[in-house]
Amino acid sequence: MAQLPLPPGSMGLPLVGETLQFLFDPDFVEKRFKRYGLMFKTRILGRPAVYLAGPEAIEFILDRHMDHFNWREGWPQSFKTLLGRSLFVQEGEEHRRNRRLIMPAFHGAALARYFATMEQITQGYLATWVQKREFVWYKEFKQLTFEIASQIFLGSSPGPETVRLSQLFTTLSGGLFGVGMKRAIAARQQILQHLTQVIQQRQQHPTDDALSLLIQAEDEAGNRLSREEICDQALLLLFAGHETTTSMLTWACLELARHPDLLNQARAEQLNLAQQGGLSLAQISQMPYLDQVISELERFHPPVAGGFRGVVKSFDFNGYHIPAGWLAQYSILCTHRLETVYSDPDRFDPDRFSPERQESKLQPFSLVGFGGGSRICIGLAFAKLEMKLILAHLLRGYQWQLVPNQNLEPVLIPTRRPKDGLRVRFDQIDPLSQ
Ligand code: HEM
Repeated sequence: MAQLPLPPGSMGLPLVGETLQFLFDPDFVEKRFKRYGLMFKTRILGRPAVYLAGPEAIEFILDRHMDHFNWREGWPQSFKTLLGRSLFVQEGEEHRRNRRLIMPAFHGAALARYFATMEQITQGYLATWVQKREFVWYKEFKQLTFEIASQIFLGSSPGPETVRLSQLFTTLSGGLFGVGMKRAIAARQQILQHLTQVIQQRQQHPTDDALSLLIQAEDEAGNRLSREEICDQALLLLFAGHETTTSMLTWACLELARHPDLLNQARAEQLNLAQQGGLSLAQISQMPYLDQVISELERFHPPVAGGFRGVVKSFDFNGYHIPAGWLAQYSILCTHRLETVYSDPDRFDPDRFSPERQESKLQPFSLVGFGGGSRICIGLAFAKLEMKLILAHLLRGYQWQLVPNQNLEPVLIPTRRPKDGLRVRFDQIDPLSQ
């Protein structure tokens, strides 16, 4: 049988291909999907690549035919250099074993233990925001979510060392797509030095932080992770555990400021709950409207625009052939904006997730902001708990306005955020006005 053709698209210039457009044009992917349909070829980061969008393509990659793809060959070399031998770039048995060892730190009883720490750190930031009155929220959320992650994962106390660590992570993530690599590698070394010290302390004096869980975790054969392995996994968890939530929280506050009707509805739900008592873990699962807002944020503003894979076995999809050795990217952002999946997709509308509409349930793999299949985001429950806790507090007791003359256009790398980071004026709500 004749081989199917390659998908439409342009391989760009010799050698560089379309790498510059990929790095610097925020609409690189969207423009090409518009021109070519839900599958196009290009050449980026030195390799031929195919981009795919749509629930069927995502199910193909993340679930039905995941044996045709691997993570390690998909993410750029800079990811492997900076994130080390961590879950993100591991495969097969090694990945399954490590995921099983790490999982308990992000589920069930462990999550319930983290609630009080998240709550206490958030309260501290709310108080400083009231004093500051005007600030750039992206920067503040980054500091807040990093402090939560480092206290919960490493048992660190707030202070200059945590601020230094957070800045090192900013430098590290700046290098993920190969720009500023030298500084990013130096930052990685300093982070590893810090982590090694903390791990040594925890090995001698275990506590109940996530790191102690990782140190004590044993696989079926009774083997534990080595110190180097724990270091790399902890670095990944700290990185993945705050950049993404920062992005989604920033967009949440922007969209709520842009849509006072939605803000009022979300606030009414919180004030109703507040009458039954202060925020508690039990209340977190009684916020159906906030759940809808968060699902719409995941759809409309996914912090990770897509996932890279290496094609390890050639495959045919929708009438096209993709050779082994290519790069494949499944596009989260473009899938979430398809008219064939969501009605009026360019409108921010949490009601599309109401029990009556449930638009994401019509087809599997329609809502994939956290990935999907067996390698779905390990921090999903942690991230949702943290975002709900922070948003619930904001809605119960505070108001904010956008400062005029700022650029709110999205930039994509390393995680999607409004260009100027969202400058706001912030106040406590007058309880008498409610
Ligand atoms: C709003 C917050 C978050 C979003 C949107 C998000 C998104 C994602 C996505 C899309 C993937 C899959 C990437 C792919 O298929 O290539 C992923 C994987 C992963 N995420 Fe998250 N994430 C979030 C929060 C977190 C948190 C809080 C942690 C850690 C505490 C975390 C740790 C990880 C890890 C370790 C993986 C790799 C899992 C594996 O390969 O088995 N993420 N995340």
